[in-house]
Amino acid sequence: MLSHIPAVLKGAALERVRALVRAAPWEDGAATASGHAASVKRNLQVAGDPARRKPLDEIVMPAILSDPRFVEVAFPKVMAPPTYNRYDPGMTYGDHVDAPFLSAGRVRADISLTLFLSDPDEYEGGELTIRQGDATFRARHAAGDLVTYPTTSLHHVTPVTRGTRLAAVSWVQSYVPDERQRRILWELSEAKKLLDRTAPAAPETDALRNGLFNLLRMWWQP
Ligand code: NI
Repeated sequence: MLSHIPAVLKGAALERVRALVRAAPWEDGAATASGHAASVKRNLQVAGDPARRKPLDEIVMPAILSDPRFVEVAFPKVMAPPTYNRYDPGMTYGDHVDAPFLSAGRVRADISLTLFLSDPDEYEGGELTIRQGDATFRARHAAGDLVTYPTTSLHHVTPVTRGTRLAAVSWVQSYVPDERQRRILWELSEAKKLLDRTAPAAPETDALRNGLFNLLRMWWQP
């Protein structure tokens, strides 16, 4: 399931992250890609030293992991520290699939995420383009908005033609690795929210709660 979650980062926290990223030293994005992905990756990213990225990670990771809308779609178990990237005019990231494991094998990438750090009027091009089967989805959202998609999806970023596009990208290992199961759980949770408000004591609401909780028990992988 693809998901667009607005304003995961906002206000002073968003401005602080934007300022830190703008002031950071940059390296060639191909440094952290391998094989085919490295050959189509033409961007910049905040340079190597994890200690330098710590002040960024300390704002960005809790903001994402504590957002209830993200938790409802992702069931996050562990998140890899983000990569902060930059696309200037002419930069692009061609079609690729993300690696299955990160952080030296400690994180299995079930869900990919992009946190936009530039507003759409700050650049042209730079669309995150995700393919699912023969359908194509394009994402270009406000600074602070998050997009998540299954890491199983082929995707690319179209060339930036004006301005600068900043974003953080990361990957999450989910307690529910199967994307079909995550979608079913999310849909049933949406129905449960309505029934909790409108018919909390109805036997049918209890039946739905029971069904949802039992599916969670069946599909949860600790
Ligand atoms: Ni990617």
